[in-house]
Amino acid sequence: MKKVVAIYPGTFDPVTNGHLDLIQRSLRIFDELIVGVLVNREKAPALFSVEERIEMLRETTAGYGNVRVEQFEGLLVDFVKRMNADAVLRGIRAISDYEYEMQMVWMNRKLNPHFETIFMMPSEAYAFLSSRLVRQIASYGGSVKNLVPPLIEARLMAKFAVTSRK
Ligand code: PNS
Repeated sequence: MKKVVAIYPGTFDPVTNGHLDLIQRSLRIFDELIVGVLVNREKAPALFSVEERIEMLRETTAGYGNVRVEQFEGLLVDFVKRMNADAVLRGIRAISDYEYEMQMVWMNRKLNPHFETIFMMPSEAYAFLSSRLVRQIASYGGSVKNLVPPLIEARLMAKFAVTSRK
C-alpha cells in the first residue's frame, strides 16, 4: 500500500512544544512526515540560521523513525511536488490564524489545483504559543520553560547571551 506522506512547512524559528505536539498528533494519521524548513528570503531575517533550525528540529524529533527534516526555498507547491507528498499539514490555533491560512490554501490551489492542506489543532495547552512570543520572552530574559524543550531553551539562552555581549 502507498504510504501517506505529508509536509509540515514553516519557519520554525525556533521549534516549540506546539509544533512538536502537532508532529506527534499527525503521525497517527500520516505514515511519514517531512518537516520543511523555509529558507527565509522576503520574511524578516530569522533569529536562528536555517542550519540551526534544522539541527534543532532533528534533535527534537530524533525519536521518530518516520519524520524527516529538510530545507526548502521557493514555492511550497514545488517542494510538495519534488517530495511527492500527498498533503500539507498546518497547525491552526485561534481564529486569527484562519485568514492567513485560507489565503495560503487558495493561492497554493491556484498554483496547483491538486494541492491539499490538512489542518490540525494543537493541545489547548499550546493555543497561545508561537515562535515569535518565545523569541520575545527569551530576548528579555524571561523563562520559556514548558514552551520549548530544554535543549531549545538552552540554545535561546546561549543566542541571547552572545547577542547581549555584542
Ligand atoms: O511558520 P510560518 O512562517 O507560518 O510558515 C509559512 C510558510 C513557510 C508555510 C509560507 O511562508 C510558505 O509556504 N512559503 C513558501 C513560499 C510560497 O510558496 N509562497 C506562496 C504561498 S501562498
